[in-house]
Parts: sequence; structure tokens; C-alpha cells
Amino acid sequence: MNEIFDRIADELVDKNYAIIDSFLSPEEVKAILALPHFAQHEQHFKKAGIGKNADLQINEAIRGDYILWLDKNTAPPAALVYLNRLGELIQNLNQSLFLSLKDYEVHMTVYPVGTYYKRHLDQFKKDDKRKLSVICYLNEEWKEEQGGQLRIYTEGTSQDVLPIAGRLVCFRSDVLEHEVLPATRERLSLTGWILDQVIL
Ligand code: OGA
Ligand code: MN
Repeated sequence: MNEIFDRIADELVDKNYAIIDSFLSPEEVKAILALPHFAQHEQHFKKAGIGKNADLQINEAIRGDYILWLDKNTAPPAALVYLNRLGELIQNLNQSLFLSLKDYEVHMTVYPVGTYYKRHLDQFKKDDKRKLSVICYLNEEWKEEQGGQLRIYTEGTSQDVLPIAGRLVCFRSDVLEHEVLPATRERLSLTGWILDQVIL
């Protein structure tokens, strides 16, 4: 894993984002997909909103995903494997890049067929604790023609990322605009943010 953490640091320095395959092994992905949360997500997940808390405003035209927040204290072992690995990533990035990242927040995510998330930035205007966005995809045998790419906008160009099982994408929440393109199949992921504050 240390080699993977080093590559994430290098790519972040280089281009503000990193794309790393096999952050989760096929077995680790399978164990997460088998959790009742995902297996019965229609019962457990809620429509995601735009903005935070009070101004939570559900807007189908902007984003169509359903989410379930994970709680470190109650997360099942299969999900903890991922959360603990994010914890290790934080420690490694703090050492290699002299950062002071402190915590993370993660939700399980499902985009139903045909849904998307329009171009946006992950940092809230009044709240800048989100430093890095980290998304790990859970879709076995995803094919390019099925769509669902994460499109990251960089200066003058863009980079499309297929949501392939085990792949981690990590990018600067404050600078990189991005969007999720619609797909012809359900698109599953763990979506999170690395924060420079501890959340209570
Ligand atoms: C988000 C987001 C990207 C993805 O949830 O804010 O941009 O690839 N997700 O799922
Ligand atoms: Mn986003």
C-alpha cells in the first residue's frame, strides 16, 4: 500500500488529481457490494441534496444520486477496510506532502440508470474543510460504452475516468471542477472527502 500512497501523493503534486487502480482488491469490492446497504439500497439510501443542512435543496436537474453516510463507529467490517485505508492515506499524505489533514467523511453512493451530476466543485462556499475528494468505484466489468465517466476539468482540457471496480480517484476539492456523466447501468461508489478538521 505504501507504494500506492506515494503514487497518489506524486500525482496530486503533478496535476491536482490521482487515478489509482486496485486501491481495493476484487475481494474487498465484493465484500462491500454484498453488504445489505448496497444489496438493498432502495430501502436504505436517500436522495442526495445540493449544499448543506438547512439549505439542503433537492435538485433533480443537478444531481440524481442516492446516498447513505457511513459512520466509523458503526460501519460493518467490509466498509471499515476502506475507511481505515483512507486513514492510512491521510497519514501518508501528511508526511510526504507536509499537510495537516485530519479526518474524512464518506457516503455510499448509487446513481440509478440515466442519472448524472452536473459540473461542480466539491468545496462549499461557506465551509472549506473539504481538501481532497476521494471516490472509490465498485462496478465490476464496467465498459466504456456504458458511460458513467467522471469528467475532470483541467486547464483547457478534460480527463474522463471510468468507474471501474477498485479504482480510486482523488483530487483537490477546491480547484477541480468535475461532473458525472449518465450511464446505462447502475453506478456504485464510495464517495468521500478528506478534511483538515475533525468532524464530531
Ligand atoms: C460527488 C462527485 C464523482 C463520481 O459526489 O460530488 O462528484 O465520480 N462524484 O462519483
Ligand atoms: Mn463532486
